[in-house]
This record gives sequence, structure tokens and C-alpha cells, in this order.
Amino acid sequence: MSGATESDTSALAVLTLEQKASLLSGRDTWTTQPIEDAGIRSVRMSDGPNGLRAQLNGGDALGFQPSEPSTCFPPAVAVGSSWDPELATKVGEALGREGLSFGIDVVLGPGVNIKRSPLCGRNFEYYSEDPLLAGALGVGYVRGMQSTGAGASVKHFAANNQETDRMRVSSEVDERTLREIYFPAFERIVKEAQPATVMCAYNRINGVYSSENPWLLKDVLRTEWGFEGAVISDWGAVHRPAGAVAAGLDLEMPGTRGRSIREIVAAVEAGDLDEAEVDRSVARVVKLTGLGAEGKVAVDFDAHHALARATAAASIVLLKNEATLPLEAQMRIAVVGEFARTPRFQGGGSSHVNAVRSEAFLDAATAHSASIEFAAGFTLDGRGDDLDLRGAAVAAASRSEVAVIFAGLAESDESEGYDRTTIELPASQIALIRAVAAVAPKTVVVLSHGGVVGLEGWHDDVDAILDGFLLGQAGGAAIADVVFGVVNPSGRLAETIPLRIEDTPAFGNFPGEQGHVVYGERTLVGYRWYATRGIPVRYPFGHGLSYSTFRTSGFTVTVTGDDTATVRVTVENTGTRDGAHVVQVYVDASALGTVQRSARELRAFRKVHVPAGGAVEVELELDRRGFAYWDVDLHDWVVTPGSYRVILGRDAFAVDAETTIDLVGDRINRELTMGSTAQEWFEHSVVGPVLLDTIQSDLLRAMAQPEALRMLGSLPWQKIVNLLGDSVSRDDVDTLMAASRGEGC
Ligand code: BGC
Repeated sequence: MSGATESDTSALAVLTLEQKASLLSGRDTWTTQPIEDAGIRSVRMSDGPNGLRAQLNGGDALGFQPSEPSTCFPPAVAVGSSWDPELATKVGEALGREGLSFGIDVVLGPGVNIKRSPLCGRNFEYYSEDPLLAGALGVGYVRGMQSTGAGASVKHFAANNQETDRMRVSSEVDERTLREIYFPAFERIVKEAQPATVMCAYNRINGVYSSENPWLLKDVLRTEWGFEGAVISDWGAVHRPAGAVAAGLDLEMPGTRGRSIREIVAAVEAGDLDEAEVDRSVARVVKLTGLGAEGKVAVDFDAHHALARATAAASIVLLKNEATLPLEAQMRIAVVGEFARTPRFQGGGSSHVNAVRSEAFLDAATAHSASIEFAAGFTLDGRGDDLDLRGAAVAAASRSEVAVIFAGLAESDESEGYDRTTIELPASQIALIRAVAAVAPKTVVVLSHGGVVGLEGWHDDVDAILDGFLLGQAGGAAIADVVFGVVNPSGRLAETIPLRIEDTPAFGNFPGEQGHVVYGERTLVGYRWYATRGIPVRYPFGHGLSYSTFRTSGFTVTVTGDDTATVRVTVENTGTRDGAHVVQVYVDASALGTVQRSARELRAFRKVHVPAGGAVEVELELDRRGFAYWDVDLHDWVVTPGSYRVILGRDAFAVDAETTIDLVGDRINRELTMGSTAQEWFEHSVVGPVLLDTIQSDLLRAMAQPEALRMLGSLPWQKIVNLLGDSVSRDDVDTLMAASRGEGC
């Protein structure tokens, strides 16, 4: 590691404008421009997020060309389901080390976009439909990675929630929704982990490209959240290089063979771009040269494989289990499905890793059981005779005591670059599951997929379902660990499994049309939508079973301030196996007025490991943000005074315990104007109580009666003043308006 730091202003002072501009776009696909005379070295980047796709000679942004072998850790779809930020930290650290071993300074991850629709082709690269969960895992990942000296790149900022038309589409989304759903994961990571870089998204937000959005990149990211690193573009996301620098973008990737350099120089010379902006971005890019490692970093690939396996095992979700799992070693087992032999363990596109190795369930299972018969059941490319394949699977299943079917989506069904059009499994696989379940004494289904798959049409035919998402290179071994009970499953869904695509929040508004996608469901994303609207789902967010049973008791919520509280609960493992339970605390503010609130919002969680027969006490803080909404008039977070339901959830739907707390909240005095309504005048906390004394009018007194106010409450104050005529003086009205602003009275 060598290079100038931001404080090395002397090194920067000697640079010509052209040299400075050359630092603001890549030299090639993965590296920045060095200026050796000034002691500025090149910075090397690589995808990310769940393994290194290091292309040390040339390369591409889509994963077509080869890359160095590296560990393929479970993609975010799995880690999201672990609900374990400590695991995310360990994975981040391992990725940092692997990056450094290849001479990489910045690893392009984590991806923390919200899963708005289950159809998004890139959902496998994102953690959750919930911003708190995504943010907590992202903080872990970035802290772990940056503890090694490598820099992280949090992406894709912001409102990048689909692949269709991704380089152009405008996400039409209101500010409150951005603040409450699409920003918080980024916000938390910036505030708590200070990532070296943030990667701006391809898409536009309300018509403005993320790479050219000064509100996004300057006001929100830097001024409000205190981001100190560099903003880099997604690969090819810049349209106007000089405009992007002016808006707060520091580094355009990849390079454009000199075009961007020329445009930035010309813009400065023409007086269209302030050179101070160039200097600021140059300093931030140069600061990246301080990342990386001194000397060689060795990687223990065996240890990383073991970490990948432990992470995968902790992420698997046991969706259903009717006295079937775990399996006994001596059972006669029919293993059905090509995915058991040829595992699907990662997604397609820029995150595609050249895995150092991979373990199939079929091989791993032989370490647990000597009595396995395999039948492929289907082919991954759709070729082959479905009836023959199914017939062989049914024959094997009928000879078994239990059939374990590996079903899921093939690589071509989902990827970066395009969205899915259905959540269903291929029809041939559904037919296979039903045929096998009809003859096998017991049937277990193991699912492999990046985006949610529907379970309808076969769910009730089978005895147990394990959701295996995409589990990385050790996924097959991790599934075997859970199937045979070496590991007690502890994953929880980070995304709702709906009954029908038609029920999902963005249905009808996804993926948009003619260049626009309207976020019409607003803040009611994921479980917020189903819980608030009372729409049934197959399995809710937060759901996941264990081979143990857990009892919670002593749930108390103590108010600790005007807008904060502490939650306490005891978790007891009442089963016979050690296991883990996830304490989930939701707040329901839907009864409070002002703005529409969701009936459930995850506000705190903790995964706790509890030995069989043991108990663990858990204490969680609910901070101000746990109760707040974003007020678009005040441009700030507001906690409405009133009662909040605090819910201890087994998942987003199942309530283990609940209580109601009263919060003082914020005393908001909104400024009154002649355009404010009569109701706002009467309800104003300063003006309301003195209104009838200050304006002595029988008519106004009559209007203040509840029934009259119900009818007249929405009249603008100007109209009331018109009605009152001479009985009200302009001075009195002015005095009251001043009082509403906190002046006089
Ligand atoms: C992706 C990014 C990725 C970049 C570099 C883009 O297509 O959206 O997530 O980091 O390529 O490969």
C-alpha cells in the first residue's frame, strides 16, 4: 500500500487540470488512473458482493470473462435470512482478506437495495424487504471488510429495485418512502460503518439520474449523513461527466477512453464547472489510495470454506416440518432432483464467482447415510424426457422411507440484467414433486433459488420444506448438516412468501412502463403491505422453524424518554437440542393520525443461541427512529405523541406478546398561515388554546363546536377571516401567526 492521502494537499497542488480530471474516471474496467510523478498510485476494484470476481488482466462488468478462483460465500439472499450481523461481519472480513490477496483495494459490496417485488432478477444480491434488517447486516459486512484494510462499496444508491430498463428507468417515488424504506439501510451503514465508497445506481429517481443528483449525493449523503468517502458510479451510470462531478460524483467507472476527462476540462474552462468541485473529488479519489494492504496477504481457503458452510447452515429456513426432519442416518433415502448433484449456489451477472470448489448435497449426504438412491427427476436445461425422468424418480421414491426433492430455479431463470415474470417453479418440477409425494412415505423439499418462489399447488402434498435460497460453494454440505440434524436450523425469512404474485405490493406497478416505474405502494413494502391490508400470505417475513421449541416470557417495554424505550424478554429453549431463536420487535403505529402508518414495522431484533433447557435474557433498545415517520413539511423525523403498540413477533404476523406504551413524542408547532385550515388553527398547541380569547367572535365560537368544525374544519383560514368580517382584526391574526412560529404571545 502506498499513495497520497487527502491531507497531502501539496501533492495535489502541482497537478494540472487535465491530470486532476484524469483521476475522476477509471483507467480501465477495474482500476483508477495513477499519476506516478505526484506519488498517486492506481486503486484496484473488484466485485463483490459475495465473493471476489478478480479479473487481474482486463475484464468486464457482467461476469462473462474469467476471474481468479475465490471463495463463493452465500449471496445476500441467504445471509439476509441468517438475521445475524456477526456472521455478516465474519463474511465481510473474509472477503476483505481475499480481496487484499489479489491486490484489490475496494470490493464492490454489499448490495442493500430493498426487495420491492419478488420478481426483481437481482434480489439474490440483496438482503431483505426490510430496511432495518438490510442495514444491520450491511453494517456488519462493511465493518468486517474494512477491518482488514480493504474498502467496501455500498450499492446501488438509490431506489434501484428492478433490472428491467435499469440504466434508464425513473423510479417515481415520494420523499417519505425514500426516507423510510429505500434510504435507511444506506443511512445506517454510512453513519455506523463509514464505508470507503458508495456506488450510485444506474436509474433515475423522479427523473434525475442518481449519478447527477446533488440532493442525493450531496445534501442527503454528505451533509445529512456525514459520508466521508468517495461516490463511485455504477459501471456505465454516468451520462454527463461534468454534471455528475458538479452533483457530487467523485469517480466514474469504468473509464471512457479520455472522453470524460476532456468534458470535465472543457466544462471548467468554460466556467460551467467550479474547479473546487474537481479538487474535492480528486482528494476523495486520492484518499482511496490509502486502502489496501502492505505486502502479501495469505488466504486460508479451507477456513473460508468452513465459514461459507457455517453461514449457509445458519441461513437455511425450515419452512414446514411435520415430524419429518431431521432424518435418521439409517433411513432409506431417495434423493431426487438435479440440484442435489449439480448445486445451484450463486446468481448470474457481475457477482458471479469462479468458486474454488463446490460441494453437492449428494456427495455430502454420503457422509451421513449409507442408503441413498438418486434420481435426477429433471434436467437443468429443460432437455430430456420429463416423463422418463419423473418415472425413475417415482420408482426410487416408492422404494424409500423418505424422499428428499431438490427443486428450484435454473441459472437462466433469474439474473442481473432482467426480471422474472412469474414466481412459480417450472411446471415439470411441480408435477415431479406431486408424483413423488404421492408414493413416498415422507417427502422433504429443498429449494434453491435467488428470488422468492411460490409454494402453491404442492405445499400441502409434502411433509417438510427447507428453503435453501442460494447458499454459496458449501451449500450442499450445509443442507446435509441441517437435513441430518448436525445443525439445528435457525434462519428466518427476510422476505415474505406470498400466495400469489397478484397479492404483492408492487403488482401493477412493476416494472413500470415507458421509462417510469411508480412506487405506488409507497411505504407499504413487503410485510408492511400484507400486515396493514390483512392480505394472507403463505409464510410471513420473519418465519422459520427449528428442531427445538422456544418459549418467551416476561416481555416488558419500559419508556426511557420522550421517544425511546427498552424491551426486555426471556427466551427459553424448551426442546432437547441447542438452537437459536430470533427475537423480533415490531411497532404498530397505524392508529396514530397525521400520516398513514404501517401495522407492523420491525424496529429491533436479536438472534440468540440458547442451549437445550436453558434461558437467555434479551434487552433491546427502541430508539427515536423506532417510532418516527418522515414529515415532508418539516423535512425531518417526527414522533407523534400518543400510544404505540409494541409487539413481540414470532414473525411479522404471529404475535407472542404485546403491550402499548404512551410516548410524549414531539411537540410540533407547525407555522400557521392564511392557507392553514380552520382545524389546524384550532388544534395548534400554542394558538388553539388562546384563539377564542384573542378573537372574540360568537361566529368563531360557534364554528369551534365539534359538529361545526367537522364540516368547516378544512376551510382555509382566509375564508374564515372573510366570514368573520369586522369581528376580527388583521393585527390579531398576525399576532397569532407570529405565535405559531414561536414569536411573542
Ligand atoms: C453492476 C454492479 C457491479 C458493476 C461492476 C454493474 O453492472 O450493477 O453491481 O459492481 O457492474 O461489475
